[in-house]
Amino acid sequence: MSERRAAVIGQGPAGSAIAAALARGGAQAVLAGASGPVPPGCALVIEATPGGLEEKGARLRRLGGLTGEETVLAASAGTLSIAALGAASGCPERVLCLHFRHPAPCSQLVEVAAGPLTGEAAVQAAAAFLKEAGLTPVLVKDSPGLILDRLFVPFLNDCIRLVESGYAAPADLDAGVQLGLGHKTGPLRLLDIQGLDAHRAAALSLCAQLGDPRYAPPPLVERMIAAGRLGMKAGRGFYAYQRPSELGDAEALPQAAGARDLSAGLALAEGVRKVGVVGLGTMGSGIAQVCAAAGLEVSAVEVSPAALEAGLGRVQRNLTGAVQRGKLSEGGKEAVLERLRGSTQLESLADCGLIIEAAVENLDLKLDLFKKLGSIAKEEAILATNTSCLPVTAMAAQTRHPGRVLGLHFFNPPFAMRLVEVIEAQQTDPGTAAFGLAFCQRLGKTPIPVRDRPGFLVNRLVVPFLNHAAQLYDEGLAPRETLDLAVSEGLGHPMGPLTLLDLIGVDVQTFVADAMARELYEPRFGPPPLLRRMTSAGWLGRKSGRGFYEYGEK
Ligand SMILES: NC(=O)c1ccc[n+]([C@@H]2O[C@H](COP(=O)([O-])OP(=O)(O)OC[C@H]3O[C@@H](n4cnc5c(N)ncnc54)[C@H](O)[C@@H]3O)[C@@H](O)[C@H]2O)c1
Repeated sequence: MSERRAAVIGQGPAGSAIAAALARGGAQAVLAGASGPVPPGCALVIEATPGGLEEKGARLRRLGGLTGEETVLAASAGTLSIAALGAASGCPERVLCLHFRHPAPCSQLVEVAAGPLTGEAAVQAAAAFLKEAGLTPVLVKDSPGLILDRLFVPFLNDCIRLVESGYAAPADLDAGVQLGLGHKTGPLRLLDIQGLDAHRAAALSLCAQLGDPRYAPPPLVERMIAAGRLGMKAGRGFYAYQRPSELGDAEALPQAAGARDLSAGLALAEGVRKVGVVGLGTMGSGIAQVCAAAGLEVSAVEVSPAALEAGLGRVQRNLTGAVQRGKLSEGGKEAVLERLRGSTQLESLADCGLIIEAAVENLDLKLDLFKKLGSIAKEEAILATNTSCLPVTAMAAQTRHPGRVLGLHFFNPPFAMRLVEVIEAQQTDPGTAAFGLAFCQRLGKTPIPVRDRPGFLVNRLVVPFLNHAAQLYDEGLAPRETLDLAVSEGLGHPMGPLTLLDLIGVDVQTFVADAMARELYEPRFGPPPLLRRMTSAGWLGRKSGRGFYEYGEK
């Protein structure tokens, strides 16, 4: 029995969460104070108290003196050097780091880092203990922030900066990340759960160790701490909490997401009967389907009869799939197809109240299309683009009524993904922006308002995150599988960053990152050398059969 017994030293939120994570898998986890005795018969003692190298080193030294040689001593820090902690403890062969990603109850993954003098027996014993408790130990290098904090602290800082600059409201940012990237918990909610003070401590420590400005906590963190807005434990952080310290449903979408007042755009949105879609490729066919399924008449335009047939065929196949999965009746499918018409002439869109452009991602082509659409569309029509990264403002400038142009950035596949970024160009009228939000709501989507800036919201956050993951992989932080597993299991992302890069396309990421870096003048947006080399080598990811992983002949 004693092998399954652990003591967790520190009765704060981190200690309690670790004890709860261990207990869920059936291990006995006894919480103890920082200065009292260690409960007898423990195979593992986890130090989970606040403090830096000096305090934690001193506590490990004390714990070493209170326990036998077979007891493994673990520090729960993810940002401190385990080599230094081992040296301070006086018994480095027994000391390692177990980093439970907070909130521990939401993640099974525990990073296990050994110092240069940690004995192999201690590492094996700790890993076996965690496995028996139903957790997933992953052995990682002793480097600042291990994998998770190293990658995620800059991502969190980027999220904070977008709120700080007024670019996005917390609920919209969290909804964007949860719905657009599939993260289980919104990043700002996660910061509230973790505590803004804990984030600051981790960020400052990593900034000092790595000398990399990506880790420096944005000034808003300091302001929030000064105002007592430490997060959930204080009842107020990015959100207000009725019951302080209540974890609640960490994976729920923030209530404010999609619950805004849409009345300003409602009349315009309800006035639209017919929607035009330009380009029936991957996105256009999905957008046309979503609009027709919402009861709207849809006119689609393609470059040639063959492209039109292919696009309409794609919609038909999607709907057939929905019927087979029991999501749609045969009658429902026919009704949707009835509402969808195709043409190779842009002029066929002259009677549409809204035209959504979803042609290939090429600025010259889109500028030309907007010039033509501007003169073909009826006077009161609204024009939208589904561009992923091109300036909506430049497209609006080609038209007679730039105030009635906006971006409607659907995600792939449009019929399954709830998020739409509603992009306000420099010239977009407030009424048009309000229309965009109300129209998306009418389609059953969750819209978030964003400005016409490089990457909008979701790409602005994920592009530097993926660049950083590729860079750290290139620097040998961890093997590809370990890096991906740590992120998917430890952070609740639907897949690891290298798998995601292979899915997006290494060349696509390189192109988008280059475009963002050009406009934003910040190195973190630019592609790291590895991505350029892989693009040159034709290692583009899934579509070419080889990227970070191999997928066989394509
Ligand atoms: N694929 C994605 O994951 C994704 C996600 C969000 C946004 N987007 C954006 O959506 C747009 C379309 O992307 P996609 O992936 O559907 O591309 P795609 O290549 O699958 O489809 C583009 C279609 O546009 C047609 N087209 C080209 N020129 C045209 C013209 N002058 N008139 C009418 N049709 C024309 C092409 O024949 C093609 O069928 C791009 O701006 C892209 O950045 C793509």
